[in-house]
Amino acid sequence: MHDMIPTQPAQTLLKVTDLHVAYGKAEVVHGASFVVPAGRLVVLLGRNGAGKSTMLHAISSLISKKGGKIEFDGQDITASGPIEIVRAGVVQVLQGHRVFHSLTVEDNLLIGTFARNPRGDRSKLDRVYTLFPELKEKRHQAASRLSGGQQQILAVGQGIVGDPRLLILDEPSLGLAPIIINRILDVATELCREGMAVLLVEQLVEKALQHAHHCYLVETGRIAWEGTPEELRGGDMLHRVYLGGG
Ligand SMILES: Nc1ncnc2c1ncn2[C@@H]1O[C@H](COP(=O)(O)OP(=O)(O)OP(=O)(O)O)[C@@H](O)[C@H]1O
Ligand SMILES: [Mg+2]
Repeated sequence: MHDMIPTQPAQTLLKVTDLHVAYGKAEVVHGASFVVPAGRLVVLLGRNGAGKSTMLHAISSLISKKGGKIEFDGQDITASGPIEIVRAGVVQVLQGHRVFHSLTVEDNLLIGTFARNPRGDRSKLDRVYTLFPELKEKRHQAASRLSGGQQQILAVGQGIVGDPRLLILDEPSLGLAPIIINRILDVATELCREGMAVLLVEQLVEKALQHAHHCYLVETGRIAWEGTPEELRGGDMLHRVYLGGG
C-alpha cells in the first residue's frame, strides 16, 4: 500500500545472505538472500515445498544452517541459539502452531512472554487485548472454546506479547476462512506503522499483496524474484512460480 511507505529508505533490520540449509544430505535452500527493513511487511511467496518455512526456521535457529549469514539490527546472529534470537527481538509464529486448548486465553498469552521473561510479564497482554478485542472478551475461557480463527489469532497474539522487533508469521491463515487473514494482516500493518518489521509467508497471495511493502518469490530453495506488489501483479512471475508456466 503506497500511502504507508515512508519516503526515507527504511533501516535494514534483518539481513539474510547466501543462506544454505539441508535436511541430512539433501540441501533444500540453495543460497537465499533477502532483507526485512524496520517498519515494513515483507512476504515470501512460493509453492508448497519451495523452502519458505525452512528459511524461517533457519533465521530463528530452529534448524542448523549449512552456510550463509544472518544479521539482525547490525549484529551477526548466525551462530546464536533460539532463545538468544527471541531475546534479540525475533519472534516466530510457527506454521500450523496450535495453542494450549486446556489453558485459558490469558494463560496462553502469558506463555508467549516467557521466552523474554522467565517469570512472565502480564504488562504485555493489554497491547494484544487492544489489537484483538475478541481475545480480551474471552480471556478467562479455555482456548478450546475459541473458534479455529480465534485460536489462530491467539497464536499470533502469543507472538506479539513476546515484544518482537521482527515478527515472523508462517501461513497464519492455514486451514481457515480467508477472512481471518484480514484481521491478522490489518494488525500486522498497524504494528509496522509503529516500527515493527513483519516477515510473512502466506498462500493467500492476493491478501498478502494487499498488505506487503515488498515481496520475494521462492522457487525450489532460491529467491527467483523480488519487487513490490505492484511490480509482481504487473508481470508474469506469479504465474511462473505457482503454475510453472513461462
Ligand atoms: N524435517 C524435514 N526433513 C526432511 N525434509 C524436509 C523436512 N521439512 C521439510 N523438508 C523438505 O524441504 C523442502 C522445503 O520444505 P518447506 O517446509 O521449507 O517448504 P514450504 O515452502 O514451507 O512449503 P509449504 O508451503 O508446504 O509450507 C521440501 O522438499 C520438504 O519436503
Ligand atoms: Mg511452510
